[in-house]
Amino acid sequence: MGTPEPDSEVMDKVVNLCKRRGIIFQSADIYGGFRSTYDYGPIGSLILRNVKDAWWKSMVQLRHDIVGLDASILSPPAVWEASGHLENFTDPLVDCKECNERFREDQLEDPSTCPACGATNSFTEARAFNLMFKTYAGPVEGSGHAVYLRPETAQGMFTNFKLVLETSRKKPPFGIAQVGKSFRNEITPGNFVFRTREFEQMEMEYFVPPEDADKWYKYWCEERMNWYIDLGIPEDQLRLRPHDEDELSHYSSGTSDVEYLFPWGWGELEGVANRGDYDLRQHSEHSGEKLTYFDPELGEHYIPHVIEPAAGATRSMMAFLLAAYDEETVNDDLRTVLRFDPRIAPYKIAVLPLSKKDTITPLANQVFDLVKDRWMADYDETQNIGKRYRRQDELGTPYCVTIDFDTLEDQAVTVRDRDTMEQDRVSIDRLVEYLSDRLP
Ligand code: GAP
Repeated sequence: MGTPEPDSEVMDKVVNLCKRRGIIFQSADIYGGFRSTYDYGPIGSLILRNVKDAWWKSMVQLRHDIVGLDASILSPPAVWEASGHLENFTDPLVDCKECNERFREDQLEDPSTCPACGATNSFTEARAFNLMFKTYAGPVEGSGHAVYLRPETAQGMFTNFKLVLETSRKKPPFGIAQVGKSFRNEITPGNFVFRTREFEQMEMEYFVPPEDADKWYKYWCEERMNWYIDLGIPEDQLRLRPHDEDELSHYSSGTSDVEYLFPWGWGELEGVANRGDYDLRQHSEHSGEKLTYFDPELGEHYIPHVIEPAAGATRSMMAFLLAAYDEETVNDDLRTVLRFDPRIAPYKIAVLPLSKKDTITPLANQVFDLVKDRWMADYDETQNIGKRYRRQDELGTPYCVTIDFDTLEDQAVTVRDRDTMEQDRVSIDRLVEYLSDRLP
């Protein structure tokens, strides 16, 4: 089977659904919107949390060789000098002298023609534009007070390497994982939340004996591909693409990207990089701290090499949304469904009392109380039941539990399956057991 064609219509539909259902909003919408920043609404904040939790669970909870970290976002120039970001974290920027629009030179389809106004040979010489956001700590603005918002979470893992090593009692191979915000002053943000100036990353630095680096690089490429597949991204919409020599970052001796087939074509979800000893060596030289591991068996110190799977949380969430989006015709009606894996679905269950009558509401609350501790559940009592089912389908809720007038007699509820739309009558006594068999 060949690669499926990217579906360009689906993008508009998903962006529209995101706004309509409280998943993702343009930031500062009431002020006309702030370009390239987005807010995650009541539903989107749940989905994003689920993506990050699934990553954290697979990286930290289910393994004894990886520990977590939550490092600061602000850091002094010394960190970025050592990491190489002050010098190398740049994009080539060109301005069109006719319309004054700015572009990344390496992203221009035709480097002699301005895509905004069509002028030819109107670009300035390319200059290196540093992508880091700079600000000042304290009340005085000045070079002695400059700080940077981190453009990646990774450096926190390197600067804390020694402290984590000492306090966690781990030894190579071991990893440090972190989830959090990063900031890049992207020249050409776009494609919804694919490339934004503020985004979230999920990164893990895996410290290994130098001679084992290649083995672990291959291991993490495979592990990370499988993570997306396990959570519901179809295998034929994913690929692992090794970087060409000229694409490699300043620190990397080998990188492969996990790519997803976005509606506009293949795009990176995650980079798995063999960073060698670059980071620990740099920070060691710049800070004067010895960032080595003493191997008692060999009786020697060495600088571990680093394998880094670096994923975007917000970008992955977008891939999960696109992959889950589905439409089908049911009784001449178009049904939109987000076929999320239950681990990604914002609500696992929706409790839907058929009426707001005094007799039904206490029972519906009783059902909500039964499930709420274990699963994120929605409670919705407005509109007709058909519309409420459609709404839950659009949110990707795997199970709807309806409390009706018969419930008063038989103490049973109707459970509707999102994907098959089949309904089971289940006694309230057995409801938790029934759902436990089907939900994580
Ligand atoms: N520490 C290595 C590093 O940061 P990267 O490939 O620059 O590597 C890792 O970033 C991941 O972070 C990317 O694969 C992508 O998913 C996400 N990412 C990077 N820049 C982004 C942006 N401007 N907007 C959204 N996500 C971004």
